[in-house]
Amino acid sequence: MEKLNEKGEILPTASAPVPKRASLIWRLTKLAVVCVAAGYFLSGHLNLAVAHLPIRGGRSSTSLAVTCPQTGALAPSNTTLLDALYEQFADPDFLTKSAELLGASVRIPTETYDGLGEVGEDERWEKFAPFHEWLEGAFPSVHSTLKKETVNTWGLVYTWEGSDSGLKPLMLTGHQDVVPVEEKTFDQWTHPPFSGYFDGEWVWGRGSCDDKGGLIAIMIAIESLVKQGFVPTRSIVLAFGFDEEASGMKGAGAIGKFLLERYGEDSIALLVDEGAGYSEIMGAMYATPGVGEKGYLDARLTVNTKGGHSSTPPKHTGIGILASLVTTVEANPIPPRLTRTNPFYSTLQCIAAYSPDVPKKARHLIKASQKSDKALAKLGEWVLDKLPPGVAVLPIGPSLMSTTQAVDLIQGGVKTNALPEQSWAVVDHRISVDDSPAVVQAHLTELLTPEATRWNLSLDAFGAVVSADTEDAPKIGSLVLTDAFGTALEPAPVTPSEGAVWSVLGGTIKTVFAHNDGLPASVRSAKLEAGEDLSTDINMAPGIMSGNTDTRHYWPLTAHIFRYAHNRPEGIGNGFHTVNEAMGIENFLAAVEFFTTLVMNVDEAEL
Ligand SMILES: *[C@@H]1O[C@H](CO)[C@@H](O)[C@H](O)[C@H]1NC(C)=O
Ligand SMILES: *[C@@H]1O[C@H](CO)[C@@H](O)[C@H](O)[C@H]1NC(C)=O
Ligand SMILES: [Zn+2]
Repeated sequence: MEKLNEKGEILPTASAPVPKRASLIWRLTKLAVVCVAAGYFLSGHLNLAVAHLPIRGGRSSTSLAVTCPQTGALAPSNTTLLDALYEQFADPDFLTKSAELLGASVRIPTETYDGLGEVGEDERWEKFAPFHEWLEGAFPSVHSTLKKETVNTWGLVYTWEGSDSGLKPLMLTGHQDVVPVEEKTFDQWTHPPFSGYFDGEWVWGRGSCDDKGGLIAIMIAIESLVKQGFVPTRSIVLAFGFDEEASGMKGAGAIGKFLLERYGEDSIALLVDEGAGYSEIMGAMYATPGVGEKGYLDARLTVNTKGGHSSTPPKHTGIGILASLVTTVEANPIPPRLTRTNPFYSTLQCIAAYSPDVPKKARHLIKASQKSDKALAKLGEWVLDKLPPGVAVLPIGPSLMSTTQAVDLIQGGVKTNALPEQSWAVVDHRISVDDSPAVVQAHLTELLTPEATRWNLSLDAFGAVVSADTEDAPKIGSLVLTDAFGTALEPAPVTPSEGAVWSVLGGTIKTVFAHNDGLPASVRSAKLEAGEDLSTDINMAPGIMSGNTDTRHYWPLTAHIFRYAHNRPEGIGNGFHTVNEAMGIENFLAAVEFFTTLVMNVDEAEL
């Protein structure tokens, strides 16, 4: 995932809440929900599960419905093949071999940096050559059966041609690059960052999770399928960019254009890229594929004022004025709000439907908010942690219902004895799915227009002259608002979280989770010792990413983009983009199982 995005999942990555014992009422309710789900599973249809939870303490016994679309488990019809694959994955030799492959991929450093030059000019891109070479040797069946193409030299596209070219392909994506390791942190690593060391439970090193963990899991899955004689009906496209951590323009950007030319718009059945995983939320398990992504805008505020010697200064220099503007911006963010169209709202509905530990008040608000705007507003307050204590909130929730802002860069002045002629600051905005770059621009313009007047500055906001320097109103300088790097991005189109594609994804996750929960062996024994009930149930809930992945370059290809890595927080050692990044081998093998099962399920699904 992109740099500022390590907590971009809906789920807490490091400290999943410890489940409490479910109440009897909850258990009974859950049983009812499971029965509803089972009924739909047997009839093989999408199940819009409606859980009827009694509101206690109310005067009447009326119950309000919370809705969360669920689907039954889905297994491929070729059970002989699936069993053979699962048997192979359970072999200890397979575990060792897989750990070795992931470790070897980590040992080939593929760091990217901001400000890298063009491919072919900046020789630092050449580090992908050994990685490509290694892939060829490590996955011989993939390379002998799939067509390999390179795009912009280092982008990788593999195509496994299906027998029916009339079917839309399945696309699995990931990125080859990793974020750099701070040299100063080298000694903080338990095992060196590019060691790929396997200690029997964890594969250590930069990229073991983000995103070689994803890329290698896909490659192992496809290699296994080829070896077992699987022949696809629907084509499978694997696409691996090489600069995701630096915005993905050269890698996925080029691959996106290449595939659009080849297949056209809306030509891919579904696309799975890195993203959120599965985890416990308030007492129940959820897979939360990212169906949306926030947008962004880096807004630059430039203050131009007259220079001069600083021995005869005005009361406020350009820096002083800029400081005042920054204070104004920080004091007036776009107010967060919860809307029913935000996928996060659907996440809340799911949590109310299935999580036993949702506080009673919150559950009531989630239900009531379907009809009542007042309840909706209160629910938003709960997420923002503004309601009374004792009411727990989801750590990532507030950012998902907000357009966030952060003043991340500032510069001004060149010398102590010279008045600064130009000072600027850049405000990073992560834009809520309910807003857009235009909304942020309008907000800043409105906010800073009176400020410009107050400081006697002309104002040029995002290309429009708001107030000019005129003879009757002379200005002392100018304020110019711009898109700092020309990188504004709309929030991603929201992927439908119901319908055939969602059902195949959800059904696959349910099948895989029931067979393999991905828990590291030591975590599993600790949980069992603590008397925890390791349920094999998992629910689907739409998630949303607070940052961006390479998928922004693939929007025209399909409406069904899922940012989903079949990983769980217990199997992610210490998180992304930081010291001691490590992948739990069981977690990794569950991901291999997920990709394998997904390929088989999608192959026979009507999409
Ligand atoms: C299952 O897949 C294998 C390929 O691995 C194939 O040989 C076999 O015919 C398939 N069985 C069915 C019932 O389609
Ligand atoms: C702005 O201009 C007016 C009129 O020339 C002047 O009275 C005022 O002091 C100026 N304010 C600032 C902050 O320069
Ligand atoms: Zn990544």
